[in-house]
Amino acid sequence: MKINFIDLKAQYKEYQTEIDSEVLEVFSSAQFIGGEKLNKLENSLVTYTGAKHAIGCSSGTDALILSLMALDIGAGDEVITTPFTFIATAEVIAFLGAKSVFVDIDEDTYNIDPSLIEDAITDRTKAIIPVSLYGQCADMDAINAIAAKHEIPVIEDACQSFGATYHGKKSCNLSTIGCTSFFPSKPLGAYGDGGAIFTNDEEIAQKIRMLLNHGQNERYKHKFIGMNGRLDAVQAAVLNVKLKHFDKETIAREHIGARYSDLLEDVGVITPKIAEGNVSVFAQYSIRVKDREAMIAKLGEKEIPTAVHYPVPLHLQEAFSPLGYKKGDFPVSEEVSTQIMSLPMSPYLTEAQQDFIVEAIKG
Ligand SMILES: Cc1ncc(COP(=O)(O)O)c(C=O)c1O
Repeated sequence: MKINFIDLKAQYKEYQTEIDSEVLEVFSSAQFIGGEKLNKLENSLVTYTGAKHAIGCSSGTDALILSLMALDIGAGDEVITTPFTFIATAEVIAFLGAKSVFVDIDEDTYNIDPSLIEDAITDRTKAIIPVSLYGQCADMDAINAIAAKHEIPVIEDACQSFGATYHGKKSCNLSTIGCTSFFPSKPLGAYGDGGAIFTNDEEIAQKIRMLLNHGQNERYKHKFIGMNGRLDAVQAAVLNVKLKHFDKETIAREHIGARYSDLLEDVGVITPKIAEGNVSVFAQYSIRVKDREAMIAKLGEKEIPTAVHYPVPLHLQEAFSPLGYKKGDFPVSEEVSTQIMSLPMSPYLTEAQQDFIVEAIKG
């Protein structure tokens, strides 16, 4: 049985007529950067998330960089985040000359453990970046309460959680700034790189709009040192189509995630635990298995693709060795990283495919 880890071809087939037509409109208009498609997308993202401002940008990584730049974070500053995430979360902190201060994760949700944050705060702490991993929001109320007490802004790394909800509110609109990614394999994926930044703060929004366009407030008048962080019109056109169908896809993802968890209940693997008040968008469906390498090999024999998000926590990555962390510093992240593995997940995964995967795991 042929199973894709994420079935982007099936999705394209489903929306092909609409996507082709939207993209061809961009080609014939010759408005490749900004313009009507991007404005439409940003307005739709405002409506979807409830945030006052939604700003399209070039990637999730750039969304995080622009957010840190908007908060003037740089050399000498500290930013608290989790070591159990994709490298971009902490890479951007180092990129701007600031220092990542890692805090371990909660064993159930794999998101930053709010009870450990306060001990990591110093007078140099300039932001907290919780990551809403695998499509489930971090415990944002608890994190926001600590941040408010210390007057520190919170940037939600929502690169995996666009479409998730937290106590009825949409991910990306849960803190000072929310950052998402439209990398093709994300729940809402473009046909190339893309991302968006969300905020309710007018001043931050205006600054980010300038920063992503070389710090210009008008043409060739540069108020800040910025960058080229724009989202192009072709990506906006694709996203406009996909966003129209997104609710249907998130419901399918939720259903497939719940069905995996039901079918895998007594199989001896740890299935995802979704905290009360959370609805996950299941960017990944990740289970924990004692002998992961053997399980991956067995599934591989049946041509079932798997992935590991993430095998090495960031504090043990060579690139972060200057931070001086060592093995044993974040025991939960370290243990989870040796057991976690992701199964095929997309709104187009059929029940027959899912049954085949579950039978292979049982075997
Ligand atoms: C948690 C997290 N943060 C940041 C990023 C970076 O997003 P992008 O690939 O769009 O730059 C990703 C994407 O994989 C991610 O999963």
